[in-house]
Amino acid sequence: MTSDRVPDIRPLMAGFPTGVAVITALTPEGEPWGMTCTSLCSVTLDPPTLLVCLRRGSPTLEAALASGGYAVNLLHSSARWTAELFSSGSPERFDRVAWQAEGEACGPHLVEAAHTVADCAVTDVHEVGSHAMVLGRVVAVSQLRSQFPLLYGMRRYGDWTDAAEESHLSYDFIS
Ligand SMILES: Cc1cc2nc3c(=O)[nH]c(=O)nc-3n(C[C@H](O)[C@H](O)[C@H](O)COP(=O)(O)O)c2cc1C
Repeated sequence: MTSDRVPDIRPLMAGFPTGVAVITALTPEGEPWGMTCTSLCSVTLDPPTLLVCLRRGSPTLEAALASGGYAVNLLHSSARWTAELFSSGSPERFDRVAWQAEGEACGPHLVEAAHTVADCAVTDVHEVGSHAMVLGRVVAVSQLRSQFPLLYGMRRYGDWTDAAEESHLSYDFIS
């Protein structure tokens, strides 16, 4: 069936729950930027490549493109307020969270809010409408803690209650 009307895909995507990431980057001058992001997917394992879609005009996108890298901070289930902070547009985002950007880090690591961080080197960018698809080669993965991920779907945050109830043993979602 076809229609001249442009479909609104928001209800569609509300039915596709995801984890929640904060994408962070540093300007060449070292200023931290970051934004909440659910448009994260793995593209290929070899070379290990992730894709994020960031709004054009975002300071985080500009910092990632200028520095050539970004960090994908996967939030744990107790970090909902961090997701809210990094989607709020607040200019004081990094004054209110613990972060580090040492050594080879491609962007700030949210050391209390993230369970795992992937450092990515930008390999390609494609602009599509209001957003830019940013491909990044994963150069390092740091697991900070074993904690269940924060989820987002049906226009709300949630956690993996079933898994938490069923799994009393150690879990490692990386391997
Ligand atoms: C759960 C959730 C997921 C989001 N995912 C994205 C995303 O994938 N890409 C994007 O550009 N914005 C996304 N946003 C919106 C940004 O987080 C928001 O516009 C933020 O203020 C952007 O920061 P900036 O103004 O510094 O660019 C999301 C917001 C929420 C609440």
